[in-house]
Amino acid sequence: MPYHALRDPDKLQALLDAVLSVEADLEMAPMLRRVVEAARTLTGARYGALGVLDLSGKSLAEFVHVGMADDVVAKIGRPPEGAGILGSLILDPEPLRLAEISAHPHSVGFPPGHPPMHSFLGVPLRVRGEVFGNLYLTEKQGAAEFSAADEALAVALASAVAGALDNARLYARVTELTLSEDRERIARDLHDTVIQRLFATGLSLQSVVPLAPDRELRSRLEEAVADLDDTIRQVRTTIFALEPPPAARSGVRARVLALSAEAARALGFEPAVRFAGPIDNAVADSVASELLASLREALANVARHADARAVDVELSVGDDVHLTVTDDGVGMRPGGHHTGSGLLNMATRAELLGGSFSLGARPGGGTELTWRVPLGKRA
Ligand SMILES: Nc1ncnc2c1ncn2[C@@H]1O[C@H](COP(=O)(O)OP(=O)(O)O)[C@@H](O)[C@H]1O
Ligand SMILES: [Mg+2]
Repeated sequence: MPYHALRDPDKLQALLDAVLSVEADLEMAPMLRRVVEAARTLTGARYGALGVLDLSGKSLAEFVHVGMADDVVAKIGRPPEGAGILGSLILDPEPLRLAEISAHPHSVGFPPGHPPMHSFLGVPLRVRGEVFGNLYLTEKQGAAEFSAADEALAVALASAVAGALDNARLYARVTELTLSEDRERIARDLHDTVIQRLFATGLSLQSVVPLAPDRELRSRLEEAVADLDDTIRQVRTTIFALEPPPAARSGVRARVLALSAEAARALGFEPAVRFAGPIDNAVADSVASELLASLREALANVARHADARAVDVELSVGDDVHLTVTDDGVGMRPGGHHTGSGLLNMATRAELLGGSFSLGARPGGGTELTWRVPLGKRA
């Protein structure tokens, strides 16, 4: 980008920070807010806002704005619904720069209580032709209108956000997939192509390490190889979470063991499994499938979040079915945010069967998960 703004190292750093934080975070509202803040600072705008369309593409699913005082926002009442210039930006998703908003043919004016706004810069959030929403900035400070450099910055930020939204939707879609065929196919693709490629790249990088002329470069190559290994572990966790439960006909005990053995690939070690009571005879099929699905999610969470050295799986059957999964990892982060629905699913599975679910800190570090349901009627 041949623009002056991008040669300013501070601005460039702010841009990179904004973009990188987008990649790292799937939680919407705070991420969108950070992007709008960055866009406003970078372009010198007084106000900034970002609207994300819902799946129908007609109304806004998310709207975040910065720069307006709370009492002004309260006076205006509703967020914009996409009439006027914002609407035309949706219909004709191209960057738009105006010195005077009210002079635009699509302008519909502002609602009562809205502060005056003159200069305007709007850019669509777009990935592969699909429009996710738009980012807009108003009231350029210290100039009558936004510049071409401001536009370039806004376009760069918008495309980073659109990429992140695209990822988030893809992620949500994968989580929602119920057709086991699709899940199996995706798991297979990940295994056969993604893992194989990462693996091959890791090997070839590793082979050039000794050829590197200096120590600094060698250690950076080694870090890259370690990162790739880590990524492979993460992808394996995803595959594990996607794969269908093992064939339902074998007994609960065998299925718990098979699942735990299978989790070893994602965990990097085998969980220790203990049983107590008449497992195979007492657990109803309807309970078994929910139990196995919950255990799968619990182990996937340990692999994904815990950074644990050991996991204990305990299944005991007495008056009820009682599963505990204990890890010695980092534990739940205080105030850590939710990205998925795994915990919710486990809780719902337990509740639907008349049981209970809890996840807490393990004394000495890590987490302790308890999933408990009544025995259920044998078929
Ligand atoms: N064993 C664990 N160790 C540490 N943190 C965990 C563990 N299990 C779950 N968590 C935390 O709880 C959050 C919610 O888990 P979940 O609902 O399964 O969503 P997801 O796995 O998609 O993030 C995780 O993002 C993580 O922060
Ligand atoms: Mg999870």
